[in-house]
Amino acid sequence: MKGVAFYFFFTGVVAVMLGMLWGIQMSAAQDYTMSPVHAHLNLVGWVTFGLFGIYYHLVPSAAQTRLAWAHYGVALAGLVAITVGLTLYLAGGSDAIVVAGSVLTVASMGIFLVTVWRQHRAETPLPAAQEGTPAG
Ligand code: HEM
Repeated sequence: MKGVAFYFFFTGVVAVMLGMLWGIQMSAAQDYTMSPVHAHLNLVGWVTFGLFGIYYHLVPSAAQTRLAWAHYGVALAGLVAITVGLTLYLAGGSDAIVVAGSVLTVASMGIFLVTVWRQHRAETPLPAAQEGTPAG
């Protein structure tokens, strides 16, 4: 695994490590106020980033685009903003950062939607090309 696939996957591993440690800390302190932050770090961080990483590994032509790096940048900014913003919000602060994080996170999924569709179109042979392909 290399390039953007590696960065997505590695970020996911870092996120789940932090999320698990956070879960242990919540249990030890018997204070579950921050459990939504733990859940988002694990589900957006580990599950979503991990899936992005696996996709880019399986579809290298999608990984070799500037859009893939833009996707990583927007997704990372979203994950950090959701985590920090939700923590501040649950501690009684403003919701501005978590709202920004949500917008960035859904934007990153929008970029991924475009990527998956473009790759599908690129990999689907046109009917004319299929007809012209010699058998064997
Ligand atoms: C060492 C590993 C983990 C520990 C110690 C841990 C611990 C916890 C604790 C203490 C809670 C709060 C329970 C409560 O409010 O009563 C929780 C909630 C939750 N955890 Fe974990 N967890 C771990 C791993 C994970 C992973 C890997 C995921 C997802 C991929 C995950 C997803 C969730 C979700 C969705 C909730 C519910 C959050 C909510 O209701 O706001 N956890 N976890």
